[in-house]
Amino acid sequence: MTKNSPTLSCDRPASSVDALSSACTFELSIVVPTFNEAGNIPELLRRISRVVTERSIRCEVLVMDDSSPDGTAQTAREVDVAVPVRVIERTADRGLSPAVIDGISAARGDFVLVMDADLQHPPESLVDLLEAVRGGADFVIGSRYVPGGTSNEFTIYRRLNSRLATLLATPLAGRSVRDPMAGFFCFRRDLIGQTELNPVGYKIGLEVLVKCRPENVQEVPIRFGTRNAGDSKMDFAQQVDYLKHLHRLYQWRWPTGTQCLTFFAVGAVGMVVDLTVMALLMYSHWSFGAARVLSIVSAIFCNFLLNRRVTFPDAVQGRSDKQLAIFLAVCVLGLGINWSISNALYNLFPAWQSYYQLSCIAGIVVASLSNFILSRNFAFALQPSKQPEVS
Ligand code: GDD
Ligand code: MN
Repeated sequence: MTKNSPTLSCDRPASSVDALSSACTFELSIVVPTFNEAGNIPELLRRISRVVTERSIRCEVLVMDDSSPDGTAQTAREVDVAVPVRVIERTADRGLSPAVIDGISAARGDFVLVMDADLQHPPESLVDLLEAVRGGADFVIGSRYVPGGTSNEFTIYRRLNSRLATLLATPLAGRSVRDPMAGFFCFRRDLIGQTELNPVGYKIGLEVLVKCRPENVQEVPIRFGTRNAGDSKMDFAQQVDYLKHLHRLYQWRWPTGTQCLTFFAVGAVGMVVDLTVMALLMYSHWSFGAARVLSIVSAIFCNFLLNRRVTFPDAVQGRSDKQLAIFLAVCVLGLGINWSISNALYNLFPAWQSYYQLSCIAGIVVASLSNFILSRNFAFALQPSKQPEVS
């Protein structure tokens, strides 16, 4: 048998795998992102090949390698298996998710299945995922958290970490989805359509789940194994990326609500800055009045910078001096609104004066909302060219 000869997919002879596989139709394209997986790719391809041969699945494998220094791409090309393998070496826009997205674009099967190379996703389980999409599911997850599934998170810390990460994704993915973070999933290729996928970090499956809104999502249990060889690339930076990705998805799904909550969270950070600066200045024997001025100004600057970067990132292109001037005006107006409302309520309801905090809270809430609306529409208004397209 020739290297990677596609015996399952086509009867006609061909001189090269690519020539042959482009002439064939596949039921399934398996996309495998790789970075330094030379120690795993031969066994992975052999096991995939064995299972698809046994089941007569017309299938291609796309190895999406980011020019791994350990020679993963070459190793993959040299493995002698019965399934057609296309090795695509990427040099630009490296990363797990972009590699998977490129793999999905290059796929030719009716269904696309994404899995890791390190054998944590048992290749034999791909049959269960395929059966589910064949049966009409739009999106199928190889799940650790449905009955029959297992995860390899043995320490309490890792289990909590994983559960918390899953919990944060639940409003986006829907409560019925138990393992939205999985990297082992399968879907009809036409589910993606014109959807623009641009995840930050690892969770490409979550991105598809949220943005393509599959109606019929199913989970099949898998036994999530331990990495065979090499090292995981999951590190602290990946976890920060995950939070950024979640924020982006929430913003995509509920733009105004997410922006409003982010604005309030920034306000809370501003309060901490205010109190910290105040404590430092009081410790340095500043007068209360002078310390108050500096701490309030610090908080306003901090809020301005965070809102510009995090709450309204699309407005970053605008002139910052103009944005700052409007933001200051909005804050002053907010101060006036806060004062007026709490004062008015305090004087209107004398019987409630011993609960004066309630008037203060009402002032704070109304002022915060007005600050948000004015900041969004004036200080950080989008340039006409940056208005998001309504789809
Ligand atoms: N092309 C490419 N480029 N592939 C990459 C890159 C990259 O920059 N980084 C990682 N990969 C490949 C790895 O070679 C492996 O095949 C797969 O992506 C997963 O990488 P791991 O480093 O093994 O990730 P993990 O085990 O920590 O995370 C996996 O499990 C999580 C569930 O616990 C991933 O599947 C996650 O998506 C999943 O959420
Ligand atoms: Mn892994």
